[in-house]
Amino acid sequence: MPLDDSPGFRQQLELCRKWGFKFEAAGGRLRLCFDHDQLVPAWIQQETPATAWRCLNPVGFLNIGSTNTEALDQARRGVPAGTLIYAEEQTAGKGRKDRSWFSPAGSGLYLSLVVRPEQPRKTWPLLTHVASVALAETLQDLHGRKRIAIPLDVGLKWPNDVLLSGKKCAGILLEAAAGEGPHPAAVVGIGLNVRETGMPDPFAAAVTSVDRMAGTCVPRRRLLVDFLECFQRWYLVFERGRHGELLERWKSLSSMWSGAEVWISDGAGRRSGVTCGLDANGALLVRTPEGKVETLLAGDVTIRKAVEQEKRR
Ligand code: BTN
Repeated sequence: MPLDDSPGFRQQLELCRKWGFKFEAAGGRLRLCFDHDQLVPAWIQQETPATAWRCLNPVGFLNIGSTNTEALDQARRGVPAGTLIYAEEQTAGKGRKDRSWFSPAGSGLYLSLVVRPEQPRKTWPLLTHVASVALAETLQDLHGRKRIAIPLDVGLKWPNDVLLSGKKCAGILLEAAAGEGPHPAAVVGIGLNVRETGMPDPFAAAVTSVDRMAGTCVPRRRLLVDFLECFQRWYLVFERGRHGELLERWKSLSSMWSGAEVWISDGAGRRSGVTCGLDANGALLVRTPEGKVETLLAGDVTIRKAVEQEKRR
């Protein structure tokens, strides 16, 4: 953009400063410095091939209450599949079970994707698996693509956590937009801790960030673009009805879906069990001490040994 001294220009410059954009001046013009961290909508769109939607439609906010709430609103108003709502900061980021998601400015990826699946609604919980597998593969591939020097130890915890060396670095919140219509929407919300932040206690010990585990500063847009590519690949597997393939991949990335001694906490209180598989829609199967197999659609599952070790400290 050409340099000028008008209030409008200064206002735009101030907004860019708030976004953290860096500029270089040359020949009386200002140019955005290119890097792989800035979440510039046009760059996200250019760098991400659209394979599962007609086109990716990125909509960025400097700050917002919750990208999921905004995406649900936009989905109800009919935005197309492939609409991506993201923010530099969330002031009311939502987690599962009415928890909040710590979303400090410039420190993570906070995004919500609008999709309009053609698969039956009862299979939609598998969209959480689509997102978690895609995120896990994106993090694993950072080393293979020579983006970081050390490989990451990536794992998945049912139902929606992505772990690095056993600590949570990302969560997924799947919500269905109300309304039937010919193409009802689902919103897949993803929060990924990229930079190291002062996570408030009592969660600090259980969470981590990509930067901490990678030992370097990983550019956020590159992560986002890699993730969106991978998400679309697995989304197409889901839409083509190849759910078994998706579940097998999820299982290969998780160590707790079979034979793990767990505590189950849900509406029915806390009880023990041993995991014994996933059903066709990704629900966790758990054998109770009485020998009954329960199907868990939601709820929290904690490895029992880890809980006991935790208590001994
Ligand atoms: C969880 O682990 O409980 C799920 C966390 C999901 C957080 C993301 S951040 C982007 C999107 N917007 C929200 O309000 N929540 C999701």
